[in-house]
Amino acid sequence: MSEMSKVVVVLPMVHPRGEQTLEAAGLEVVHVSADNADIAAALADADAMIARGPAKVSGEVLEQGSRLKVVSASGAGYDCIDVEAATRLGLPLLHAPGVGAPAVAEWVLGALVTAGRRLPSIDAEVRKEFTWSRRAGDLAGIELRGKTLGLIGIGNIGGRVARLAGTAFEMNVVAYDPAVDALDGVTMVGSADELVAQADFLSLHIPFTPETAGMLDARRLALMKPSACLINASRGGVVDDAALAEALTAGRLRYAVVDVVEGEPAIWESPLVDAPNCVLSAHVAGLTDRAIEDLAVYVAEGVVRALDGELDRERVVNLDVLGSAA
Ligand SMILES: NC(=O)c1ccc[n+]([C@@H]2O[C@H](COP(=O)([O-])OP(=O)(O)OC[C@H]3O[C@@H](n4cnc5c(N)ncnc54)[C@H](O)[C@@H]3O)[C@@H](O)[C@H]2O)c1
Repeated sequence: MSEMSKVVVVLPMVHPRGEQTLEAAGLEVVHVSADNADIAAALADADAMIARGPAKVSGEVLEQGSRLKVVSASGAGYDCIDVEAATRLGLPLLHAPGVGAPAVAEWVLGALVTAGRRLPSIDAEVRKEFTWSRRAGDLAGIELRGKTLGLIGIGNIGGRVARLAGTAFEMNVVAYDPAVDALDGVTMVGSADELVAQADFLSLHIPFTPETAGMLDARRLALMKPSACLINASRGGVVDDAALAEALTAGRLRYAVVDVVEGEPAIWESPLVDAPNCVLSAHVAGLTDRAIEDLAVYVAEGVVRALDGELDRERVVNLDVLGSAA
């Protein structure tokens, strides 16, 4: 590695041990905001860049980094960096597959209970006027045991959710993922429509890509059972939030627990803010005491290794750039 190679860090890493790992390896760390003009200016003499959402590093910005050798996202998702542009520029794009999966899966299990028992709604109700006799009426929950959990995407996170929900809650797990033929304890189905129509609880574990954008649109939401609950801890934009808000308002869906919305970080502007039977979270499913430290160190080590000329295949999103040597 050349002396004092420079790493541009777009938004501070999720744990200070990330920056500490970079500095301990003799790298200069430069922090910038998520503003593309700031990023472009900083990239002029940078050797590497680490970014995380809500930043959206465009191809035009990456082109300013003529010295760049590697770019990295801060987690499993990598939609904060233009993948096509990175590939066109021959830049390896790294991410952190699986590192935060246990944290997200735990959140999803909590979301299943939250949705089944409508915990926040009952909390709100007991703080104001409350009728004790409703307890065995419409405040009774939906038991998870024996219900169908539909998963779209069954990679690191979806696979873990399937195992945990199948064993801990005795749910029937059904999944749709064109890249997976079979997984123990899971019934695979051939289309997203088929899955959506069967699910009592539907949880999304897909990346945000041109193919998955708007995957849960008004048409697909209308295929869901009115008694079903939706959990989204994947990415904003995978669900049409306005259509989801309409479905909840019209009582065409029982409950939603949503960690990610379109237009982050302006969660307060989401149409879901005014929707009933909807719990909103703040893109925190993958953020736990343990996961943030693990992620920051993993990402920093990947960049250090890449600048030393060692690219670990499992970290590289755009394997094409490695060519035949890969
Ligand atoms: N809310 C959070 O805090 C948080 C944290 C981490 C990851 N995430 C999101 O979760 C996503 C999934 O993470 P992962 O680690 O499980 O990724 P992964 O790559 O291990 O699994 C994703 C799976 O989705 C499948 N898939 C892709 N397109 C699909 C489609 N159109 N239909 C059905 N399946 C499709 C892939 O084949 C793959 O098996 C990430 O891309 C990220 O956007 C969110």
